[in-house]
Amino acid sequence: MFRFKFFVISFLIAGCCLNAQTTLWLDQLDLSVATQGNGKPGINTSVDGKKLTIAGKTFDRGFGTHAESSLLIRLDGKATKFSAWVGIDDEMKGHEPAVEFEIYGNNKKLWSSGIMHLSDKAKPVSVSLKGIKQLELVVADGRNGPYYDHADWVDARFETTGVSTLETFNPIASEPYILTPKPAAVPKINSAGVYGVRPGSPFLFRVAATGERPMTFLAKNLPKGLTIDSQTGIITGKIDTKGTYEVLLSAKNAKGSVSKKLRIESGDKIALTPTMGWNSWNCFGHEVSADKVKRAADALVKTGLVNHGWNYINVDDSWQYNRDGKDPSFKGQFRDEDGYILTNSKFLDMKNLGDYIHANGLKMGIYSSPGPWTCGGCAGSYGYEKQDAESYARWGVDYLKYDWCSYGGVIDGLPNNDLGKVPSLAFNGGGDLDKGVKPFKLMGDLLYGQPRDIVYNLCQYGMGDVWKWGDETHAQSWRTTNDITDTWASVKSIAFAQDKAAPYAKPGNRNDPDMLVVGVVGWGNPHQSKLKPDEQYLHISLWSIFSAPLLIGCDLEKLDDFTLSLLTNDEVIAVNQDALGKQGVCLDTVGELKIYAKDLEDGGKAVAFANFGREKVKISYKDFKTLGISGNQKVRDLWRQKDVAKINTSNQTLSLEIPAHGVAYYKFILSK
Ligand code: GLA
Repeated sequence: MFRFKFFVISFLIAGCCLNAQTTLWLDQLDLSVATQGNGKPGINTSVDGKKLTIAGKTFDRGFGTHAESSLLIRLDGKATKFSAWVGIDDEMKGHEPAVEFEIYGNNKKLWSSGIMHLSDKAKPVSVSLKGIKQLELVVADGRNGPYYDHADWVDARFETTGVSTLETFNPIASEPYILTPKPAAVPKINSAGVYGVRPGSPFLFRVAATGERPMTFLAKNLPKGLTIDSQTGIITGKIDTKGTYEVLLSAKNAKGSVSKKLRIESGDKIALTPTMGWNSWNCFGHEVSADKVKRAADALVKTGLVNHGWNYINVDDSWQYNRDGKDPSFKGQFRDEDGYILTNSKFLDMKNLGDYIHANGLKMGIYSSPGPWTCGGCAGSYGYEKQDAESYARWGVDYLKYDWCSYGGVIDGLPNNDLGKVPSLAFNGGGDLDKGVKPFKLMGDLLYGQPRDIVYNLCQYGMGDVWKWGDETHAQSWRTTNDITDTWASVKSIAFAQDKAAPYAKPGNRNDPDMLVVGVVGWGNPHQSKLKPDEQYLHISLWSIFSAPLLIGCDLEKLDDFTLSLLTNDEVIAVNQDALGKQGVCLDTVGELKIYAKDLEDGGKAVAFANFGREKVKISYKDFKTLGISGNQKVRDLWRQKDVAKINTSNQTLSLEIPAHGVAYYKFILSK
């Protein structure tokens, strides 16, 4: 009897569940593979780890994410329906997030929420999954930039054929692989071929050279007033007159010797090749200190980065006192009685910091805002521009990043106390343009008048087509876009925004797509860059071909071998530092493959085949004419530092195999 009962019950259970529909919650899947614009995927929480809340209503289950977000799910006939509610999380009150939820099946759009804003009631979703093998849940930016876009999929579930889970996946490879060959023991000079200085300014140039140490350095035909330290390769002094000087640098060690020409241009223009160095923001955020900056300078030398041309050590926001001052070291009087800025207690002696950096043959950068407050709420330069420019010169500053921040409020005539609260005013032209140019010109003229060269970087996110007028303010570079993050969506959208500014790039004038996001970054919350290895190759290759200023944003004391290999490829760096100073642009598109080309001083052409798609690209490329390439060409793989083909471009093709989100970065050299 007992046995019979057991049999009947088992039969009923099995029978009822075979082919039966069951509910599987989205939060039961592995959400960690999702890509998103910021933070970590929230399982039953918002992206900030709080209770999921849309328009005042809370939800127990769901997926809290941040635009741009994508989650891919393999269905293979195992699910019949997806339903959920979607909306922006209330935790973003006080900001203006906007997103669009989208659902793709087999790469075709099945549903979209339309643009949603904060406090919009949750919208219901219900899509049939009949015939859908691959589902993608996307949160796109609502066309006002992917900022504050905290987006929730709540009460999200699948009707399944009875499976206990569905496979989520990310198609982009995640295993790092190193392509850059290790530097040889014989000396090799990697410094750019040209260097600009203004007559009368202190001259500081460290010859960048790889090879076994000890090494001795020599410089032939140095202009009067300059000397080289034969042990360190640091050239110092002062040139009094304008002129062009052809110098021959050489480096010698037990394994051999090498020479390379350096053209010194003593004149008005400085930063003739893009700035290369490090900046504190992307790793330390507001937690920067003089000690951390000194350690970064030491690490730049110790890791050997300095031997590849990296030489600026730039302090970003938070060396000043802060108006909120939650951290006691930020609390204090902003300026002295004469209006000279005071440094917070993490930066006790700026001159000392400058001397420390310079002693290594490196340069020091600093940060401020034309408004009364920096973006982080520290004291800005408004009303004290003259004193600030003088302080910078006294401390030995070589670079200033000048960040718009609260200046929009100055234009709007807001009282000082309210300035930090208003979003930056975007100015587009006419009278507004003049107002937007004015503060940058004011500081630019003051820096130009100092007795030392201070490279000037405008940070106003590209407003008013800054590339058209930045040069008039004595600036050498200007940000073209908003802040970068270590996400694919950010790198991709910034990359796509560069071409329009390219005609304005030249020696001494650079479009700045923002700092590098490889290595341990995190703006005070350290983590390994979320970019996949191929995405990092693409990022560095494009910043190289764009002739962008290269500012490392990671913690230099935590450099891993892969990141170091990305930052020490001399052939990739040489394209960036090329003396002709052109900016590469996209000249051809094949599906999601974009092909960028840049003319080089030696007549060669750098070409980056950048795959923005999620599938590997395998093609035989033949449209060389479109890239301005003709005749017999030697093709060199820059990352591998190897010749890979010799082709007659009129009748031969180049075989390419480029990983998803990856790149092939080549140099074409005309050959007989
Ligand atoms: C802005 C800039 C960043 C950084 C911060 C500092 O967001 O764009 O690069 O300097 O300010 O607060």
